[in-house]
Amino acid sequence: MSFPSFGRMNFLNFLECSIPMNSIHYGFLSPKAACKGMNRHHPANQFVQRTKTLLASVLITVSTVVPAQEQNTDQTPLPVALVNQLNKLSSGPHDGFRANHAKGVMVTGTFTPAASASSISRAPHFLHPVPVTVRFSNGTGVPTLPDASPKASPHGMAIRFDLGDGASTDIVSISASAFPVATPEDFLAMLTAVGASGTDAAKPTPIEKFLASHPAALKFVTTPRPAPESFATLPFYGINAFKFTNSKGESNFIRYRIVPAAGMHSLTDEASAKMSPNYLMEELPSRINIAPVSFTVFAQLANANDNIVDPTVSWSESNPLVQLGTITLTKAITDQVPEQRKILFNPVSLPDGIEPSADPILAIRFPTYAVSYGQRAQ
Ligand code: HEM
Repeated sequence: MSFPSFGRMNFLNFLECSIPMNSIHYGFLSPKAACKGMNRHHPANQFVQRTKTLLASVLITVSTVVPAQEQNTDQTPLPVALVNQLNKLSSGPHDGFRANHAKGVMVTGTFTPAASASSISRAPHFLHPVPVTVRFSNGTGVPTLPDASPKASPHGMAIRFDLGDGASTDIVSISASAFPVATPEDFLAMLTAVGASGTDAAKPTPIEKFLASHPAALKFVTTPRPAPESFATLPFYGINAFKFTNSKGESNFIRYRIVPAAGMHSLTDEASAKMSPNYLMEELPSRINIAPVSFTVFAQLANANDNIVDPTVSWSESNPLVQLGTITLTKAITDQVPEQRKILFNPVSLPDGIEPSADPILAIRFPTYAVSYGQRAQ
């Protein structure tokens, strides 16, 4: 299937997924993979347990009552409908791979907090250094996508902070500073419009109509995203807002911003056309072998009138940035395929001191990721 493209941009870059309804299983409930070693009583992980239980009952009900092929979108839980639609667009499923951000490379290192971090959040990783596992990825659910493809961008950077005692918290970010839509329903509508806008579609196509009525989506797909020199030279953004609370009980809404120490460097179109299909996946481990790769993590603070529930709305560049700490990556994972397959990042697995905002895009993410995980962890 082909998708509308906009020069180097293509909004399906972001999410091309795999997972037919009839292949969903409940692997995400199993402690053997994502939950391995999890302390279920740790406050950082109680949200995850509640979400998994809720999602499991929804999925079990849907899949046993209505055969997969007969379900329509109205009856299908939104996370499942999103993944199903993404799957259609990506010609998936691709066995064992993520429904989105399928191709990636995983590395490990340390997060060292800055002194300023604990002034805005009492979260444990802002008090002392902790180990991190980081997965960099290409957009789309296509595991063989060439790294320099326009569809690979925005890229992903998912960070797991090991809080000790089996607990963890994650930041799941991309190399774009805003999201194309404000609600999961609009996201499904956008993906559905893409699916209905093949080469034989009448003009204006459904996606042209969608973009005409959704300026943030139009901006997203027309923002230039040149191929990066390296994962180590890309900035990443959390996009969704979170509420930080410090030990005095003072709260701020923030968005994460992750800045590469090596600077931001991208390739010309001419140079990117000559890159090997796996250049990003191969370059990072080579670079780390020579010297550690670092990123500085910042919290961009919201001002009183800033919109904290709409990820299409950027905050002013004059908003304060508080340094949270430094990620120093020192080692590539040895067994990439099984290790990537078994880890499930969760943007709302949060310790005391960090809470989700009421952004509906943030709320749909973990349930959707769990559906994708349920398939790929088999
Ligand atoms: C409605 C909104 C969204 C949907 C439906 C969606 C869907 C998905 C799906 C299905 C996966 C695969 C999960 C897995 O198998 O583990 C995924 C992964 C990912 N998503 Fe999203 N996503 C959404 C919003 C976002 C946003 C706002 C960001 C960044 C700020 C983001 C960043 C990522 C990244 C980096 C990964 C790869 C994580 C990894 O390396 O395991 N997504 N997304």
